[in-house]
Amino acid sequence: MAWSEGTRAEPTSARTADTGRFEVKHRDGRARLGVLHTAHGAVQTPTLLPVINPNIRTIEPREMWDKYGVQMLITNSYIIWKHAGLREKAVNEGVHALLDFPGAIMTDSGTFQSYVYGEVDVGPEEIVAFQRSIGVDVATMLDVFSRPEMTEEELADAVDETLARAGPSVEAAAGTMLNGPIQGGDVHALRRRSAEGMGEHGFAIHPLGGIVPVMEQQRYADLARVVMGSVPHLPPDRPVHMFGCGHPMLFPMLIALGADLFDSAAYALFARDGRLLTPTGTVHLERLQEWPLLVPCVVGHTPDEVRRMEDEARESVLARFNLEVTLGELAACRQAVHEGRIWERAERRSHAHPALREAFLWLTTSPARGSAPIPGADHLLVSDRDAARDTTVARGAWEEAWDWIVDAQETPGTGAILWAGEDTFVRPQVVAARRRLHAAWRPASDDGPVLIVHGASAPWRDRVGRQVERARAAHPRLEVLVLSPLGLVPWALEDLQPFAHVEGPKWLWVRPLDPAWVRRELERLHLHDRPFAGLNLQHGEVGEAMDEALADLGLGPRAPNDSEAVGQAATAILAEQARSKAMLELLLDRATAESFVDAPSFVMSSTGRIRNVFDAHGRHILSPRLNDGGLSLTDEGARRLHALIADGGQGPPVVTVPEDAVPFVGAGRNVIHGFLTSVEGELVPGRTCLIVDPNGDLVAHGVARCTTREALDFRKGVAIRVRGGLRAA
Ligand code: GUN
Repeated sequence: MAWSEGTRAEPTSARTADTGRFEVKHRDGRARLGVLHTAHGAVQTPTLLPVINPNIRTIEPREMWDKYGVQMLITNSYIIWKHAGLREKAVNEGVHALLDFPGAIMTDSGTFQSYVYGEVDVGPEEIVAFQRSIGVDVATMLDVFSRPEMTEEELADAVDETLARAGPSVEAAAGTMLNGPIQGGDVHALRRRSAEGMGEHGFAIHPLGGIVPVMEQQRYADLARVVMGSVPHLPPDRPVHMFGCGHPMLFPMLIALGADLFDSAAYALFARDGRLLTPTGTVHLERLQEWPLLVPCVVGHTPDEVRRMEDEARESVLARFNLEVTLGELAACRQAVHEGRIWERAERRSHAHPALREAFLWLTTSPARGSAPIPGADHLLVSDRDAARDTTVARGAWEEAWDWIVDAQETPGTGAILWAGEDTFVRPQVVAARRRLHAAWRPASDDGPVLIVHGASAPWRDRVGRQVERARAAHPRLEVLVLSPLGLVPWALEDLQPFAHVEGPKWLWVRPLDPAWVRRELERLHLHDRPFAGLNLQHGEVGEAMDEALADLGLGPRAPNDSEAVGQAATAILAEQARSKAMLELLLDRATAESFVDAPSFVMSSTGRIRNVFDAHGRHILSPRLNDGGLSLTDEGARRLHALIADGGQGPPVVTVPEDAVPFVGAGRNVIHGFLTSVEGELVPGRTCLIVDPNGDLVAHGVARCTTREALDFRKGVAIRVRGGLRAA
């Protein structure tokens, strides 16, 4: 489609109270789809800020706005300050007129010039005041660049000098949004010191600085360490910007680790010497027979035709190619966040370059975090990589950073886990699901023997459900587990995502039971020292196989079909399902789960699954979710649960809202950031919480959209999606 000027409307300015605020609309672990509110429009993140050199405009900013939908760009205030012509126009007419760009404009401060050319002849406060005077949306303080050749002592000086300049810079900005860059090389303690120190000042955005040489040298594992050393220690309500990062190959991993903004001149610089950016690496026009991607600017031209163009025309096509590919990859990453698949994208992309693969493996199996080497058998991998993360192992700083990723995962998530080899087992969502199961679930008996159903894929209830009922009728203390590709799962949770929703080759489900591995899994499930036997669904008739497995445990055969005991066992199994789901979703301890789901009755679906759970008084308290195996609380359930917690039971996190929010939240409106005063317990995105007034009386129940720290830090957006207001007027 041809570009014509003025085809895109001018941006709408944010309300004054919202200017500078960052709001998260959707998330996938630490990846977020956000909105940064500026005086020149709402900027959707993650996004790329193309670098505009005011002296060399490879692509006109106006075209970037109109044709490419670019919402924000970055230019250099030091270059403008140094050139009298540019400076005069910027001071008189503003930076938006100088660049002819109606969207948001960020400026850098000259730090990068000092890195490339040595000193700069401008003071820290002077350059911030200048940026403010030309009307930028986001200015940058003059930080001290962490050079790769610096010693640890010099890096510490860079961090401390940047910190010393922070306060005066924020003051000089006088309300203009300001970037507070994080320095410190790849030294974890320094990145952390920088992040925590800078976070205490009134910055709007935190760029990670000093990473350009790291990326140029393709030291991507170091880049991952920089991000993991910095981002967990920043205030979560501020966007994270990757200074000088514009290679699309890096976007999925960095977005998964919490990056919101990218800026880069790569689209123009690479075009100048005939290089093309692609999501899987850089290619040279010189060697191309075909385009690696067919993007709008090259449709109708062969690489050979572009090669034969005049320099300027060729550069113009290649810069557009690079920009189109870069914007396309960002859009695909945003879509992946939307679908809860950004980690999978990072995982796949990690194969694009050995250094990126190294970074990815460091993230998931870092020796620094004590992980075991990858063993040959992948079913061991689940346990061994995870075992290395057990609390018995000394937990280093990197382990905490990994926990920061895992703790933000939504589990159960939606959709199937697409198996992709060993990486599948260390996806944060899988790790989070296993941790949640092991932390929250407790068996019904203290000493029942264990029967492990294996050798078939889900849904297991269809294959063996009736036989489990008959076995339980004969042996009520029998603990039945299922071998899923992601580890052992209690029978009561056999439909839980991700365990029951794995797409992969058949042999994932038919692995032999390794006794040593089973022992470790049983310990994690609080089934220490129990005798166990396997029920292999691969061979023979299921009922006979069940009797053989029971005999292996020294137990007699199943109860006869249709006996009264089987009916009772079936009901007990349903009650156990509701209790197990309540332990996982609502964090109830076993005793509280038993009180909560006491003498229940059920409404069943046409496929024989629980639709609704009623308590002993016939009140509808819970509804299992058929799509992900999770659980939804009803209004009545929330009331009962709140009463049980008041009596000392363990339950979900509790959010307190101030008195003036009670009428709204009590009527079913969402809890908005800034309108909650405290949180007891750890909120997890996607999970149930209770909402109380300042007296501790129940107001509503809902589902968290953030962690506890985020709930308290953010100032805009929805913190808790309310599922039921309990104070309707
Ligand atoms: N551009 C690329 N890296 C940096 C950095 O570390 N600081 C600043 N201010 N700008 C940059």
